This record gives sequence, structure tokens and C-alpha cells, in this order.
Amino acid sequence: MTKKVLILPGDGIGQEVTKSSNEILNYLISEHSLDFEVNTMDVGGTAYDLHGSPIPSNVLSSAKDSDAILFGAVGGPKWDDLGWDDRPEQALLTLRKELGLFANLRPAFLFNELASASPIKNNIIEGLDILIVRELTGGVYFGEPRAIVKDETPNYAFNTMIYNEDEIRRIAKIGFESARKRNGKLCSVEKANVLEVSKFWREIVTDMSKDYPDVELTHQLADNTAMQLVLNPNQYDVIVSSNLFGDILSDIAATLSGSIGMLPSASLNSSSQGMYEPCHGSAPDIAGQNIANPIAMIASLAMALRYSLNEPGLADNIENAIKVFVENGNRTKDITTSGEFIHTSDVASKLIEIMKNG
Ligand code: IPM
Ligand code: MG
Repeated sequence: MTKKVLILPGDGIGQEVTKSSNEILNYLISEHSLDFEVNTMDVGGTAYDLHGSPIPSNVLSSAKDSDAILFGAVGGPKWDDLGWDDRPEQALLTLRKELGLFANLRPAFLFNELASASPIKNNIIEGLDILIVRELTGGVYFGEPRAIVKDETPNYAFNTMIYNEDEIRRIAKIGFESARKRNGKLCSVEKANVLEVSKFWREIVTDMSKDYPDVELTHQLADNTAMQLVLNPNQYDVIVSSNLFGDILSDIAATLSGSIGMLPSASLNSSSQGMYEPCHGSAPDIAGQNIANPIAMIASLAMALRYSLNEPGLADNIENAIKVFVENGNRTKDITTSGEFIHTSDVASKLIEIMKNG
């Protein structure tokens, strides 16, 4: 059956990095005669400028109808003063919620050749290989009620951090099962010392652990995890956390690996439909200069092939090519230590050459 792929380049470097992943995708489609239907649409600030909404309704319906969405990045100072519903980030949140993409997988790993590009000492990060499983459609990001109240003195604002048992169980299940496929360790992160929602989270995860006797479960407080990720990241295998804590911890984890420009992510729902995006943002400061690192986007394409497009072998091919690319000394500007670097638009052709020779 034809697989539908929707490309949403978005804003800033999202435009550049999706060009690179498209080159790879087109190569794979023609090389392996894949039965894929690929469409590209506007999203984020670009969509707001052209169509008056960061996520026009036809984009949302195409997304719902796709097997895999490749999402570049959204946002930029140009749209910072827009109202809440018009902001580019709204596209991301709407897609996550409307497609039920509750499971966000954010791997953080180090290519040992890039250890010197990391801000952390080599001996601490060598061998780094963590998976952060972040809950993506609940918690304080979406909790109701929420408001900014300006007709009372003093003015105030509030959000609601809320999880029900089912939401905790389904994300923890992904955590336990991922740990089972990796090194058998799961660390559940919350603030059970302060928040009821966290205390409840810990109870549920503890209860589930009896079904996973082969997984070693630990619990950690989020502030401690932030510190431990920097001090001793190799203690972790899989981390499972809520939407907000997972957001913060995954940025820390990504930075350990030398560059956030290297790391992909997958956001999945219960029917293996997924949205795939780099961990980095739209980087307006370097947009349009042909210096962005497209590897995170290309590695996101690999995750899409594995989790939503039923082509795990091709996912392996891309990931191996990225490994060889780095081993061969190719460096984009964000990870160069010599000052020499290759441009965004040259990365895909190098990877294709490696795949052809592999
Ligand atoms: C992320 C981003 C988003 C988030 C923003 C852009 C809404 O930081 O995907 O990590 O907070 O989830
Ligand atoms: Mg974030």
C-alpha cells in the first residue's frame, strides 16, 4: 500500500535541512522503487505569512492522513509578537495534540569522534547513549484551566499540571519497553517531593514495574537529573518523564552530544503514525547561510523509515552512512574544531555517495 509522507519544512533552517533530507528521501525512493507519495506544505510562521494561520486546516488534514510527517522547525523573532493562536509554535502543539502523538523519543548519543565538540570533558561523555521518552500531549502544556487574568488586582496567570492514570501508563509502557530493547534500565523523572501529580506518577510507574521484572527501575527528582546528566550521564539508559521536564532534560542531553544539530526525534501515536523532527529549532540567527547541520533532520528521516514507513533496513543504511560520514572527518560548522567545514547543501550528496559505496 502507498505510504504517505508529508514534509513540513517550516521556518528558518527548517527550510534548508528538509532540502537535505528530501535529497536522501528522493534517492531512496528511486533506488528502491518505494511506493511513497510525498507532499510538501507550509507550516509555522511561513504558513502564517502566506495563509494567515501557522497550521492551516488543509495542512492539519493532510497531516492526519499521512503515515509520516517530516517536520523541519518553526518560529523566529519575526512572529514573536503575534497572539497565542497565531504563533508558529502553535503548529507543533496542534499537530501533537490532534494526531495524539503522545510518545516523544529523543535519543542522545555521542559519536566518539565528536567528543571534543562537546562542552563536557571527554571522559564523562564517552560512550553516551541515552533515550529520553517524553510525554508529549498532556501535562502542563495542555492542562486546563489555564489563563492570564488581567481584570483583577494583582493580575495573575496560571496553568494546570495534570496527568490521568492512563496517560502515565501508556508513556511509562513505552519507557519500560524501550529499556527492555536497550540496556534494561529505566529512570522515571518527576518532582514527587513537591507535586501531587508527580507523587501520583511515581506510584503508577512503581506499580507497573512488577510487569517488567527484567527492567531495573529508578526514580529521580528532575532537578537532580538535570545535574546528573552533566555530571555522570552514562548512568542512564532510558529516561521517562512528563512533557515539561522531558522538554528541559532533552535539551540538556542533546547538548552533551556535541551539537543539538546531530540529534533526531520521533513523536508517535498508538497506531505507529509519527512526526519526525530534529531536536533543534529554527535557528533564525544562522538561517539562509547554508551552514546549518542537516544531520538531525536526516536522522529523523531514518527514524520515520523505521517506525512509520516499515523500512528499517533503509533506516540502518542512513544511520550507518552518517556514522561513516563523521568517521571520514566531515564536519558541519557547528561541530568543526579545525575551522574547516562543509555546507548544508553538500551533506546529502556525500551521504548518498557513502550509501552507494556501502
Ligand atoms: C520542543 C520545543 C517545543 C516544546 C516548543 C517549540 C513548543 O521546545 O519540541 O522541545 O516546548 O515542546
Ligand atoms: Mg524543547
